[in-house]
Amino acid sequence: MAKKVLITGASGLLGRAVYKEFSSDESWEVLGLAFSRASGNLRKVDITSSEELTKVFDEFKPQIVIHSAAERKPDAVEKQPEATRRLNIDATKNICELAGRTGAWVLYISTDYVFDGKNPPYNEDASPNPLNKYGVSKREGEVTALEVSKENGVLRVPILYGHVHNLGESAVTCLFEKVMDTKNQCVMNDYERRYPTHCADIAVVIRQLSDQKLKDASSIGGIYHWSGDENMTKYDMAVVMATSLGIPTSHIEADKNPSVGAPRPYNAHLGCERVESLGFGRRTPFKDGIEPVLSPFTGK
Ligand SMILES: NC(=O)c1ccc[n+]([C@@H]2O[C@H](COP(=O)([O-])OP(=O)(O)OC[C@H]3O[C@@H](n4cnc5c(N)ncnc54)[C@H](OP(=O)(O)O)[C@@H]3O)[C@@H](O)[C@H]2O)c1
Repeated sequence: MAKKVLITGASGLLGRAVYKEFSSDESWEVLGLAFSRASGNLRKVDITSSEELTKVFDEFKPQIVIHSAAERKPDAVEKQPEATRRLNIDATKNICELAGRTGAWVLYISTDYVFDGKNPPYNEDASPNPLNKYGVSKREGEVTALEVSKENGVLRVPILYGHVHNLGESAVTCLFEKVMDTKNQCVMNDYERRYPTHCADIAVVIRQLSDQKLKDASSIGGIYHWSGDENMTKYDMAVVMATSLGIPTSHIEADKNPSVGAPRPYNAHLGCERVESLGFGRRTPFKDGIEPVLSPFTGK
C-alpha cells in the first residue's frame, strides 16, 4: 500500500520541488494543496479555513504532512501582521491538531531567519532570536508545531532558489533582472552573508526524513537544518550568475551597507549535523544549480 503525503504550499517555490520529489517515487501517494495558483493535480484549499482543512484530512488520511505554505516575504509580513498570524501560526496549529487526531507526522518548514545572525554557525539546538516579524511568526509556528506534538519535525532552511515561473519568485533569481541589463549600472548587496540552497536538495532531505519516519518513528523528530555550504553575498551570487551565463559583470557594483527594509540577520549559517549524521542530504554547487534555472530567461 502506498505511503500517503500531504503537501501544503505545493504551488510555491519549495512546495513544487517537494511535490515533484515525492511524485517521482511510486511508493508515495501525493496530495498537493495550493490556493491562488491551484491548477492541474493540485487541490485548492484555503488552509486558514478549519472546515476546508478538516475535509482534506478526513478524505485523504495522510501519514506525513509537509507544511510548506506560509507568508515568507519579510517586508509583506511587516505590513500584514494579522493575515500572517492566521497563515503562519493559526493554520499551523490547526494542521498539527488535525494530524495529531489521525496519527500523521508533520514536518513544519521554517527558516534561518529565526536566528539573529550575530554568532554563526547555528546548530539545531541554538537559541532563536528573530530580528523581524517574519522570523518571529516562523518561530511561533515552530513552537506551535512542537507543542501540539513533540514528535513533530521542524526543518529550517536558508535562502532558496529553484525552477521559477518568473524571476521575482525567489530572492535569488530576482537578482538576474539587473544582471541581464548590462546597459545599466546596478548595485548589489555585498554585506549580509547567505547560503543559497537549491529547492530540489531540500526536497530530497524532506523525502529522506519522511521515509525514515515511516520506517522507524522513534528515530525522527524535533528540529533539523539543511543548507548549501557556499557563503555568498547577493553580489557574489550575481557575479556567479553572470559568469555562468557568459554575461559581463562590469555593470555590477558591490554595496557594502546593510540592506534596507525589515532588519535581516547578518549571517545565520545553519549547522546541519542532525541530517548529516543520518547520512542524508545533497548539495548542488550554486554555479551548477543556478545556470539551468536562469537560462530560460536569457531570451537566447
Ligand atoms: N523562499 C525562501 O527563500 C525561503 C527561505 C527560508 C524558508 N522558507 C520557508 O519555506 C516555505 C516555502 O516557501 P516558498 O518560498 O515556497 O513560498 P512561496 O513560493 O511564497 O509559496 C507560498 C505557498 O503558500 C501557499 N499559500 C499562501 N496562502 C495560502 C492559503 N491561505 N491557503 C493555502 N495555501 C496558501 C501559496 O499558494 P498559492 O500561491 O497557490 O496561493 C504557495 O503555495 C515557507 O514556510 C517559508 O517560510 C522559504
